[in-house]
Amino acid sequence: MILAELQKNFEAFGQDHVFKFWDELNELEKAEFLEVLASIDLKEVERIFKQIQEVKDYSSMSLDVAPVYPLSENVNDDSRAINHGKKLLQEKKVACFVVAGGQGSRLGFEGPKGAFSVGLDSGKSLFALQADQIIEAAEEYDYEIPWYVMTSKVNHIETVNFFQDNDYFGLKKDQVFFFSQEMLPAVDHQGKLILSGKNKLFLSPNGHGGSLLALKKSGALEDMKKRGIEYISYYQVDNILINIFDPKFIGFHVLENADMSFKMVKKRNAEEKVGVVAVNNGKMEVIEYSDLPDAEMHAVGENNNLKFWSGSIAIHMFSLRFIEEITEGEFSLPYHKAEKSIPEINDEGNVVSSDKKNGIKFETFVFDAIGFTSNVFLMEVAREDEFAPVKNKAGEDSPETAKEAFLKKGKIT
Ligand code: UD1
Repeated sequence: MILAELQKNFEAFGQDHVFKFWDELNELEKAEFLEVLASIDLKEVERIFKQIQEVKDYSSMSLDVAPVYPLSENVNDDSRAINHGKKLLQEKKVACFVVAGGQGSRLGFEGPKGAFSVGLDSGKSLFALQADQIIEAAEEYDYEIPWYVMTSKVNHIETVNFFQDNDYFGLKKDQVFFFSQEMLPAVDHQGKLILSGKNKLFLSPNGHGGSLLALKKSGALEDMKKRGIEYISYYQVDNILINIFDPKFIGFHVLENADMSFKMVKKRNAEEKVGVVAVNNGKMEVIEYSDLPDAEMHAVGENNNLKFWSGSIAIHMFSLRFIEEITEGEFSLPYHKAEKSIPEINDEGNVVSSDKKNGIKFETFVFDAIGFTSNVFLMEVAREDEFAPVKNKAGEDSPETAKEAFLKKGKIT
């Protein structure tokens, strides 16, 4: 697109402020900027900005709690599921998929979060610990289990370099499939694009919900099919206790005919920052902690326990066929807004940062795929066995608590 045409388009959408410093740019800077601007779908930005204004008011809805298969409910059912899960692994039908496109800003770690080490004696990073599990499972089930790693533009090169520098942690190079999710521009509270440099739009990854379309667009789904994969074990990069190949979870997912399954833990308390799964008007949905009305958050259910007693820890099984089906044709998950402090250029052309939440990032969440199916299975797991994320520098969910949980489980470091 030529400059004049682009300027006209940005003007039509009330976004021509992005050209404010145009005359100060050299030819190379102009060319780079034009490329980015031409890739922005302004109509879509406008649509998303409108959509995020319509916040769902759950307080006027009648919410039920979704049924969760509790810890060891039935020994016979459990062992049937475990055997089935093992069989599926022996049949080489399971792949693993980590979402690692986020920025880890709360942790204050420069670089991909998977490269972070919580301080084990071995110094192993989160990625290295995950690779250990894949190698072990590959031996047990006798196949080269493929590992799909989703990055984003903010960390793709560093992630791939980290794998290369560490000889893929003992995995074969073609066992690991890297791909990036898409980026979206952030806006201010009036919906205006944010300049974080004279020729720089502030862009950020489109949320882990972007993983579903990215799996398709990158060819990862095709690659899985070629390898005979039918089920995907999905997890987030920052959980040091992730149990990537859990035969019970895999087995139940398939025996229950689920398209998508969730691992749940008992909430520490009513306010814990995890999403809950509710039944709203006959349909299951995940409600983020920030959207759950106070009364529901504290509501009491059976046996005087919390009504919404369990939270999602972002560990899922997906059927490959389900992802293929929903990403066919027009596919979009609802957008959520994340209010953030974003570095912004001022009138004098200097980049300024503050603690003020001056911007809005647009994100989709993978758990919203629940809206595309009623075949969902939820399974309770023990927090101390399966969930210790590294989110914050100190305190709760920090490297210190993750390391402690890891050692407590008797894991070999
Ligand atoms: C998330 C969940 C929360 C869950 C918790 C468990 C959301 C909105 N909330 O919270 O319900 O209980 O994890 O740990 O997800 N990521 C990408 N691309 C992105 C954004 C994130 O790949 O664009 C990845 C990150 O690399 C990370 C994971 O998604 O692996 C989680 O991201 P994070 O921003 O840390 O989510 P939380 O707010 O902690």
